[in-house]
Amino acid sequence: MNIATIVLSAGKGTRMKSEIPKVLHKVLGKEIILWSNDAIKNFENKFIVIGHQHQLVEEYISDDSQTIIQQQQLGTGHALLVVFNDKSFLSSTYDYVLVVPGDVPLIEEETLNRLITKVIDDDAAIGFLVASANNPFGYGRVILDKEDNVSKIVEERDASEKEKKINLINSGVYCFKYDFIANHIGQLSDANEQHEFYLTDLVELAFTEKQKILVEESSEVSIMGINSMDQLHNLEREARDNIINKHIANGVYFQDATTAYIDKDVAIGNGTKILANTHLLGNTVIGENCKIGPNTMISDSDIGSSSTVIYSVVTESSTKREVQVGPYAHLRPGSNLGKRVKVGAFAETKKSNIGDGSKIPHLAYVGDGEIEKNVNFSAGAITVNYDGENKNKTVIKEGAFIGSDVMLIAPVTIGEGAFIGAGSVITKDVPPKALAVERSEQKNIEGYADRKKNKKDEK
Ligand code: UD1
Ligand code: CA
Repeated sequence: MNIATIVLSAGKGTRMKSEIPKVLHKVLGKEIILWSNDAIKNFENKFIVIGHQHQLVEEYISDDSQTIIQQQQLGTGHALLVVFNDKSFLSSTYDYVLVVPGDVPLIEEETLNRLITKVIDDDAAIGFLVASANNPFGYGRVILDKEDNVSKIVEERDASEKEKKINLINSGVYCFKYDFIANHIGQLSDANEQHEFYLTDLVELAFTEKQKILVEESSEVSIMGINSMDQLHNLEREARDNIINKHIANGVYFQDATTAYIDKDVAIGNGTKILANTHLLGNTVIGENCKIGPNTMISDSDIGSSSTVIYSVVTESSTKREVQVGPYAHLRPGSNLGKRVKVGAFAETKKSNIGDGSKIPHLAYVGDGEIEKNVNFSAGAITVNYDGENKNKTVIKEGAFIGSDVMLIAPVTIGEGAFIGAGSVITKDVPPKALAVERSEQKNIEGYADRKKNKKDEK
């Protein structure tokens, strides 16, 4: 069977009340258009209809799909007509056509396959996914005749009061026999409340011609569409629960799922504990048996197994196993921590490699650093990486000890096993195993306090 898949994403999304094209709004950190992309990723012959601000939307279309521009958005039926007039579509022949709305992000591959199989097995002209909705508002209602056959779909805006009470809703996901569309798409009219060409009217045409129509039930959540911010909000809440439940089923512990924000593509190893108020965003991967949170935000980062990240912010960074981050640490982009590294309270790192076993336990800044293994970077020490014009590198070789309150003025290299005395401002390279001290010698002025007091009493 040759099946073409068409995704309709040309609409403006007026009801969103936003300048951003509807399919570029994000649900759990991922653009809506990419959700449907995921659902059809294993399908062939994909055509994505875009229109409103298509230059922006185009960038999100995967290479294995064909883009079709619908210049004027005259309705879902018109979108399909545009496809059926497009050269790239007409260059091959298909037996069936799957139509998926671009604004239904929770639709799953398995559900689409179920629909396709049923339509093919039953030799239907049209099959579409429906759901019994608690709140059918805004969706097309599925109208049955006296014998419970599907006779048509009525849009919310065209529905009578009686029809509005029907809670069987149209998902907007259809599988058509190719020939049926080819023969009927030209017959749609825009004689309705919105003056649009409704794809849904094909159902009534099929009914009139006594062609076989079937419906396949799906869950209300899986076919939720996004037309307004309100719906985006509700859908995101459902999607969030779904995703957290999947992680829980995989053996991840959530202290409080209501305060956990886990983006769609985040991976979490089993045995990991996610504590309250944790945000795991973008393409983040958390290893096994970690403890993340409370109050932690990790974006686009990789955290090695058996690590702890507490009260911290981690962005575009990676760690090996058994690291300890926080409380109150900030790993900025390009921080790569080796095994058992510790970055503790009020420490910040940026674009730095920090070797196995090195410790930055408190109140420190490491930027543009090449820190080898087992380095101790004491409280108050910083790499002075920026001279006002350029960012410069600090290299600290294995086992070096950087005392408290040290300024390492980059570019500078500290040799293997060297010591830097507390409070030093280091501007020159330090040889291996040396002690570098840069501060004036301490003077003790005996009896100072008494003399000071006497002077005051004389006044
Ligand atoms: C549509 C269905 C409705 C169904 C609902 C499910 C019609 C007439 N109605 O309503 O029965 O319950 O979906 O979510 O089809 N689009 C284009 N070009 C256009 C118009 C729309 O590509 O000219 C795209 C939109 O970008 C969107 C999808 O088609 O992704 C559906 O359009 P939308 O306007 O959201 O239709 P609904 O009112 O939700
Ligand atoms: Ca919609």
